[in-house]
Amino acid sequence: PRTAAVIPAAGRGVRLGPGAPKALRALGGLPMLVHAIRAMADSRAVSLVVVVAPPDGAAEVKTLLDAHALPERTDFLVVPGGETRQESVRAGLEALPEGYDIVLVHDAARPLVPVDTVDAVIEAVRDGAVAVVPALPLADTVKEVEPAASPGEPEPVLATPDRSRLRAVQTPQGFDRATLVRAHETVTGDVTDDASMVEQLGLTVVTVPGHEEAFKVTRPLDLVLAEAVLARRRL
Ligand code: C5P
Repeated sequence: PRTAAVIPAAGRGVRLGPGAPKALRALGGLPMLVHAIRAMADSRAVSLVVVVAPPDGAAEVKTLLDAHALPERTDFLVVPGGETRQESVRAGLEALPEGYDIVLVHDAARPLVPVDTVDAVIEAVRDGAVAVVPALPLADTVKEVEPAASPGEPEPVLATPDRSRLRAVQTPQGFDRATLVRAHETVTGDVTDDASMVEQLGLTVVTVPGHEEAFKVTRPLDLVLAEAVLARRRL
């Protein structure tokens, strides 16, 4: 089965500080989005990449893709995104041509995911999983709290989940296409990843090992780390 990757890249990236939309911020001299696209196109299994651009930035993204020679065996589509990540992913799914039965959803904000992680996700879907997430154990202990009414107020701790059973999940998340489309048609309400929508259908989501370089660039310190990872790769 053929595999397509949908890259939601329509977020503003407010937590990163003021500036361009997050996906267009520079990393090692190239927009983060270009790294994320290459990370998908590097997998020989991926033959189409659908980029979901900021609604007012689709033309800019098309220009970018033309400027940065991407592998010839990969096709590209650019579509405008929505208000939420979920709407952006849905816009990408609606643009998918027939014939792609495996779909990856990969955040533009994870520009450095290694190709082996991408391939492991695809492999697990090929082996029959309807939804696959790369996952890592947590370094920090996690607390459930009663959220404070205003930021900075002390928050009462309600519980400490057993850390050994928790995982931090990354992208690309991989799906049987029909399952992901059904999840997006059926599940309403806020979610922070696509796999949780499949969970809400009552289906089993499985993990494969994630990678520390697949971290999400969210805050200014993450950009420092991303630059350091790139510099190390260039050695
Ligand atoms: O905000 P967060 O870091 O969870 O965003 C994850 C990914 O979703 C980013 O790549 C961002 O560009 C994308 N996104 C989107 N459309 C939105 C909001 C976020 O494509 N409306």
